[in-house]
Amino acid sequence: MHDTTAAVALKKTATGNLVSARYEALHRRFPTVAYLRDYARRHVPNFAFEYMDGGAGQDGGIARNWSALDAVELVPRYGVTLGLPPVETELFGRRYAAPIGIAPMGGPSIAWPGADQYLATAAQAARVPYTLSTVGGIPIERAAELAPDVFWFQLYRFAKDDHRVGLDLVRRADAAGAHVLMLTLDVPVRTTRSREVASGITYPFRVGPRMAASAIASPGYLWSLWKHGITRFACLQPYAGEEASVNAMAQFMQGEQRGAFTWDEVARFRERWKRPLVVKGTMHPSDAEKAVSLGVDGLVVSNHGGRQVEGLPAAIDALPAVVAAVGKRATVMMDSGIRSGLDVIRAVALGAEAAFAGKAFLWGVGALGADGPGHVIDIMVDEMRAALGQIGARTLAEARSVVVRHPGALNFQSNMTP
Ligand SMILES: Cc1cc2nc3c(=O)[nH]c(=O)nc-3n(C[C@H](O)[C@H](O)[C@H](O)COP(=O)(O)O)c2cc1C
Repeated sequence: MHDTTAAVALKKTATGNLVSARYEALHRRFPTVAYLRDYARRHVPNFAFEYMDGGAGQDGGIARNWSALDAVELVPRYGVTLGLPPVETELFGRRYAAPIGIAPMGGPSIAWPGADQYLATAAQAARVPYTLSTVGGIPIERAAELAPDVFWFQLYRFAKDDHRVGLDLVRRADAAGAHVLMLTLDVPVRTTRSREVASGITYPFRVGPRMAASAIASPGYLWSLWKHGITRFACLQPYAGEEASVNAMAQFMQGEQRGAFTWDEVARFRERWKRPLVVKGTMHPSDAEKAVSLGVDGLVVSNHGGRQVEGLPAAIDALPAVVAAVGKRATVMMDSGIRSGLDVIRAVALGAEAAFAGKAFLWGVGALGADGPGHVIDIMVDEMRAALGQIGARTLAEARSVVVRHPGALNFQSNMTP
């Protein structure tokens, strides 16, 4: 199913959405994101699937994100006439086709070689936010070429020599026209993911015998690897040396990348970056307050998709308290566990302006290569409209006033031990 091309004639689906013939064909085989995950699991090399799909510990954080989203119930109202609800949305003064974006991901091309390009291209075509990770596989300048209208850049903390690398990355993101800078706060220490370890993945990333054996079993993957080459930390290559080997790059990373941003550093980047600034990983309303007090424009409530530590609350359960804390002073978004358009509408109903997804897009690439991310967006948009229509909301704004049962919602006043 990889690297297919198809005609782009538009047709109406059962729900009234205008979709391409390509979508219709793909939809018959992969009607939901779960089908893409299942297909990817069976067709990509084992290490690639474990990399894109695995979480910290026993995957408990991933399971909690999913079950917490599933537990959010929206009470429908009937008796109004509904056209097909639109899902276009505005974030930081820009129009996007839907409130779903591609979360920053390091090494997506481990999941399927070429994934970086596919994600950026699909986001641009669909007009949804695309966030390039500091440790993504294409340079900032290339991401800006592929996704000029939807390009956001995520930064990890490279603090050595007074943030020499971090500040230069920000300068490059600015020069390339990135619309939003996203500072990730939720990786204060390194973690290991057991499924990655057991699949043979090592850091520094090296193709060992077990990885080679599982790649050989996937000729499509090998073909794509031959076409795109082995993935590199392309944004960082100029600082480690253009010819730096994988090992040299790993050493460079170990020397330069440390911990998560302090609030003083957030303030410093605020001063430096004149466009919208977002922090990612805030789960506590007091952290959200602090970020807003420093002039941050937006927050992504996130537990890193359960990849860092499995004992955190689900992001959807922390969302309402963060929304209540910052009110209209910042744009609150969320990620972690989003697998459907209905999940996006759940997040919107609980006050998010948009949601992001990580793994869902990689399952798409793993199953369908270049066509994968676009298909994930198409599925989610279709599902968002259906969900809005079903609950009687004519707009995204109306979804915010439906009655919601949210059993896991964190109440920072009463149900927490200080
Ligand atoms: C393979 C992979 C790599 C990731 N790399 C990064 C990264 O480099 N920077 C970052 O801020 N978040 C990273 N994340 C976290 C995502 O941005 C996002 O928070 C998470 O995937 C959302 O949860 P979901 O996968 O359940 O949608 C990564 C996630 C995955 C799956």
